Order: sequence, then C-alpha cells, then structure tokens
Amino acid sequence: MKVFDELDAWRDYRAGREAPGFIPTMGALHPGHLSLVQRGVAENPWTVASIFVNPAQFNDPADLRAYPRQVDADLAQLETAGVEAVLLPNEKALYPDEYRYRLSESELSRRLCGAHRPGHFDGVLTVVLKLLNLVRPASAYFGEKDYQQLQLIRGMAEAFFLQTRIVGCPIVREVDGLAMSSRNLRLDPEQRRTAPQLHRVITTAGGPGEAVAALADLGFEVDYVEDVDDRRFAAARLGEVRLIDNVPLVEPAP
Ligand code: PAF
Repeated sequence: MKVFDELDAWRDYRAGREAPGFIPTMGALHPGHLSLVQRGVAENPWTVASIFVNPAQFNDPADLRAYPRQVDADLAQLETAGVEAVLLPNEKALYPDEYRYRLSESELSRRLCGAHRPGHFDGVLTVVLKLLNLVRPASAYFGEKDYQQLQLIRGMAEAFFLQTRIVGCPIVREVDGLAMSSRNLRLDPEQRRTAPQLHRVITTAGGPGEAVAALADLGFEVDYVEDVDDRRFAAARLGEVRLIDNVPLVEPAP
C-alpha cells in the first residue's frame, strides 16, 4: 500500500489511471469504516482512502483536540482490507488557501446537527470537494450514520456536476445497538453502558417529544430528536461525548 503525504507525488501516481473507489475518513477506524472500504474494494478496480482530521468541520476546538488519532493502526487496517493508496495530507497541503475559500449550503446544513454545530457542514462539504477533486473517484463511500452529511454531499455532487457516484452504506452497530463511531472510544465505562439507550429510545418512542423525555431521564443532554421524511434523527451528549443516530420510521418492504 502506498501512503501519500505529498499531494504532488499523489497526482503523479493518479495520472493516467482509471477512476478508483474512494473512502474519505478522519481515521480512528472501526468496523463501520471497514464496511465502506470492503464495498469500495469489491466494486472498483482499485481503492483509495484518505485520513485527515479536518479542522474546518470542528466548531468546538476542544472536540478537535480530543478527536482520537491512531494513524499506524488505521494504515494497518486499510492495507489488510485491500486499499492500494492512502492520502495522508497535512493541513497546509489541503488548505493552501489558508481557509479563505469555503463551500456553503444554505438550507439542510442549518437544520438538525447544523443548528447545533454552526459551520460544521460547510467545513465537511469544503474538505470533501477538495478530496474528490484530488482523487477523481468513480464512486465515493459514506456511512448512513452521518445521514445528514450524506444527503448534503449528494446534493453538492448534483449542484456542482461532480463525476463521482456518491454511495451511502448502512450503519454498522455494536451488538447492543450502539452505532459505531470513532467518538465511542471517548466514553467512560458508565457512559458506554448508557450509550446504546439512544438507539433503543429512538426506535421505540412514539414521538420525538417522548424520546427527548426518555433520553433526559437516562442522563443524556439532548440536542434534538426530530422526525424528517420517514426518518428519525437524534443527537445527544453523555458528558463531553456527542452521539448521533438515525433510524427509518417505516421499515422497507421485505
Ligand atoms: O464522515 C467523516 O469522517 C468526515 O466528515 C469526512 C467525510 C471524512 C470529511 O472530513
């Protein structure tokens, strides 16, 4: 597996090759990421991943500092999974404009998580556009845990006539129902025991109000629970750790 921290070297390697599959990540990989990688490897002649903890999408500097980093373990997992190349750029390489240019969306990005994390989705869209332009993939893979992010990236691809197919992949859960997330590493043992209740409550509560009350009783600090277009979205904190999840309100027909 080739690892590129220099974007010029990456451009030379990419030149003249057919379009790969691409999995952008912020590292701290878990089986949810690996399900995206497996799909990318299965569907494409070659597969590229990126690891970059993107400062532009963290509205809270403490959250950026605390974001788990384990690059060596990540690279080992990507190699085992069959990834051919990994982009590992530093901030200077990816933001030669020193953050002067920023892509913004004016509706969906302001709702749900966007209402609680101002600027977050503009930061995501900006870095994803940069990465898609660098990699020029045939398909790029994103997890449905970040469902709002997936919808916004699809919308961006359509709005800017990008040549990449945006593929959404199902949430991977722990056996107790907790959606896999790099942030789960930061839960203490008691929080980890409570965390799966987020999924249980949003799956079983009759309405968002009932879910908010049940989560608050369990010790969550709830950002929101909202039903939008047959899907229930939720974000809630346990201490410093913010968890998100979403479930379909209507089960798809078998
Ligand atoms: O979902 C993530 O890990 C990030 O938001 C992404 C898509 C890699 C952009 O930084």
